[in-house]
Amino acid sequence: MTTSDRLRDTRIPLNNGSSAIPAVGFGTLIPDPLVTRQATRSALEVGFRHFDCAERYRNEQAVGDAMQDVFKAGNIQRNDVFVTTKLWNSNHRPERVRPAFDASRRRLQLDHIDCYVIHTPFAFQPGDEQDPRDDQGRVIYDSGVTLLETWGALERLVDDGHCKSIGLSDIGLDKLREIVAAARIKPSVIQVESHPYLPEWELLDFCRQHGIVVQAFAALGHALEPRLLDDPVIKDIAQRVGKTPAQVALAWAVQRGTAFLTTSTTPHRIHENFEISTLPEDAMQEIRDRVTTRIRFNTVVETGVPGFIPRAT
Ligand SMILES: NC(=O)c1ccc[n+]([C@@H]2O[C@H](COP(=O)([O-])OP(=O)(O)OC[C@H]3O[C@@H](n4cnc5c(N)ncnc54)[C@H](OP(=O)(O)O)[C@@H]3O)[C@@H](O)[C@H]2O)c1
Repeated sequence: MTTSDRLRDTRIPLNNGSSAIPAVGFGTLIPDPLVTRQATRSALEVGFRHFDCAERYRNEQAVGDAMQDVFKAGNIQRNDVFVTTKLWNSNHRPERVRPAFDASRRRLQLDHIDCYVIHTPFAFQPGDEQDPRDDQGRVIYDSGVTLLETWGALERLVDDGHCKSIGLSDIGLDKLREIVAAARIKPSVIQVESHPYLPEWELLDFCRQHGIVVQAFAALGHALEPRLLDDPVIKDIAQRVGKTPAQVALAWAVQRGTAFLTTSTTPHRIHENFEISTLPEDAMQEIRDRVTTRIRFNTVVETGVPGFIPRAT
């Protein structure tokens, strides 16, 4: 298998009927704004149509600039692209949600956001400090707001039309069940770490039952040890099908029904990550049965504090 098929064009319909999310997604957790702009532009040019952003990444302006560059060139329009961005922990109080959303829209230079996600279920002390700490260096949490109250504020954004769908990130099954049970507008997506070393089958099954799309972040294991791309099962399949280990991991993500988020600042890898092809069923089964390493690379899910430090460039 050396050529691409249509796997990379997979789009997963959202449960609120607003649109469909491209399964192949590009993440913008890149510390340097200039590099962010170049990488986002390259990703658009090679064919990525789904971009994941966040106010916490402090680079929405650079992502917006890259999109504007490309839109102005004329071949790609705003409506061809699905943009997710995220509400940070220090903005969970309902009265802070709309200003945070509007500020993201302004920086991204977009009239509407395709999906707005609560970045983590942890509320931090409200304010402009993204990482509030006490004098012992401990995170200052906010016990004055519940996740459901924040969710209600996101629902109102959907009512007003500039936000097409809403979701949650770094969420476990128990909290997700609570929100799904109580919400007026159900989550359309959840964004969680997932890759062959953290398949999250139970969470995925629940999401399937409720029509919730799983956006798998760190789809390549964030290049951390133990390196997913050096896994013997993944490497062996890659050799057999004539693809790279990264392409195998990303095809696996799409074929099991998730959208994935991967990030690269290297043009040839951005291209590589888009050029995925369908794996044979026996390879899918082999990954399920024979990849036995289990590891979570990002501890954000436990504390709300981002767990892997953005890479220096
Ligand atoms: N919700 C959350 O809490 C949360 C947390 C983390 C991330 N995310 C989102 O998920 C996105 C993706 O996460 P991630 O950065 O961990 O993704 P990832 O794709 O698993 O890891 C990126 C790393 O893999 C390398 N890489 C990329 N493509 C490669 C390839 N084909 N071969 C070899 N190495 C390759 C990159 O290096 P080069 O740049 O040198 O190519 C980079 O070091 C983020 O940008 C962000 O949008 C969300």
